[in-house]
Amino acid sequence: MVEVKQIPPAGEPGTNGAAGHTKGSGQDESQPIAAPSGPVYQPRYAHIVGWGYHVPAKVITNQDLEQIVDTNDEWIRTRTGIAERHVAADPKETSVTLAVAAARKALEVADVPASKLDLIICSTTTPEYSFPATACLIQDALGAHNAGAFDLSAACSGFVYGLSMARGQILAGDAEYVLVIGTETLSRIVDWTDRETCILFGDGAGAVLVAASEVPGGILAVDLGSDGSGGDTLIVPAGGSAMPTSLETVSSGMHYIKMDGKAVFRFATRVMASATRKVLDRAGFTTDEVDLVVPHQANIRIIQNSVLNQLKIPADKVFVNLERYGNTSTASIPIALCEAIEAGKLKPGYKVVFVGFGAGLTWAACAIDWRTPVEKQSTDWWKSTRRQATYGAAAARSMWKRAVRWVYDVLPTDPEAPARDDGKEREKDKIPQEAPVKEPARSKEQG
Ligand code: UT7
Repeated sequence: MVEVKQIPPAGEPGTNGAAGHTKGSGQDESQPIAAPSGPVYQPRYAHIVGWGYHVPAKVITNQDLEQIVDTNDEWIRTRTGIAERHVAADPKETSVTLAVAAARKALEVADVPASKLDLIICSTTTPEYSFPATACLIQDALGAHNAGAFDLSAACSGFVYGLSMARGQILAGDAEYVLVIGTETLSRIVDWTDRETCILFGDGAGAVLVAASEVPGGILAVDLGSDGSGGDTLIVPAGGSAMPTSLETVSSGMHYIKMDGKAVFRFATRVMASATRKVLDRAGFTTDEVDLVVPHQANIRIIQNSVLNQLKIPADKVFVNLERYGNTSTASIPIALCEAIEAGKLKPGYKVVFVGFGAGLTWAACAIDWRTPVEKQSTDWWKSTRRQATYGAAAARSMWKRAVRWVYDVLPTDPEAPARDDGKEREKDKIPQEAPVKEPARSKEQG
């Protein structure tokens, strides 16, 4: 696997990312907390060691949108910075298929087999189903048979929320490898007659592998925030327990994204800068020391107003690719990260910030002391063949397990009882009949 580089840093930031807290403990805060007796705990760090993204092939340009709604290329470019977006035009392309493609690339970069994964966290607002979790379907497709899996709902901030959960699992010693995925097929919940939203969103997936390491650095600090009072400013109203899907909700378009764009814009410009400041402070970095910011790719004006104007971080340190993808929600930061690496914008030793905001309302930022080498490894024919074989084996294992489940379903649990599909009703399956009610004798007049 990819080895994280040990770089002798000038002024190491706080161990394990968080400054040692003694507040509220009643101890003298200048004194370190005594180490617990028993096993010796090694300091652990959470590093991103693999990355990958995948977008559908179909591209919809601003000119294409001019044919669908009352808009124009000039308006979209100047108000958002977006020129085109990828959409999952093929019904077989779903949040899972995009995620699996991105995840396989991330595992390949890290050279870690799926069997080593301890946890899969999938952030999405467009899950495959209400349940089961999209993460479980990804787990099955990857053959990650040792991994737990769950979905995370924090909209566009979800990927950074996921990184925070991954870091927590690793620093606690509960996981060695955590796969964090952001995947979206927003084109399926966009109202293609609403010009205020349909011009913004795109589909895609990005994934990173977070690994435990003793090398200082990695994800050093995280800031997560929420303000549910703004929940209705960006919402899909129907399909949940508040408004279950019905003919009425569908005919009134309540299953589509509804957005108060101006309110979200104002909120975003405020929280992006403050969340970035918080994580830089916690990691012990100044804004001048930041080498790369990968912001949520929603609107170029939000990035300009917050990261560039308020934080005074120069544009060449802020990676932007929304022109070609639009807003892919939770997938936007990992996709941008991958492209920043491809563009040579990230090197070991760099101080990196991810910052996002989204429905909820939520926001999230993290500061990373990046130590993983980013040079593209030459493709090893044998390794890639073996990897493909493991995915084939995962599909076979999944089919086998389904077959076994089917056999168990048709076999009787009680060996004495006849099989359920023999057409005969078993004694214990019979519905108890109520005692027959005696019909009153009818008189001749009643007929
Ligand atoms: O991940 C989080 C997802 N959400 C966001 O990031 C949304 C944040 N908000 C935004 O990005 C911006 O508010 C928008 C891009 C959605 C809208 O930009 P705006 O500068 O706030 O435009 P506006 O809503 O103030 O609309 C200005 C005008 C209006 O016309 P009038 O009332 O001035 O005559 C709109 O009807 O532009 C009109 N308009 C459009 N015109 C052409 C709105 N959408 C369009 C359109 N094409 N697509």
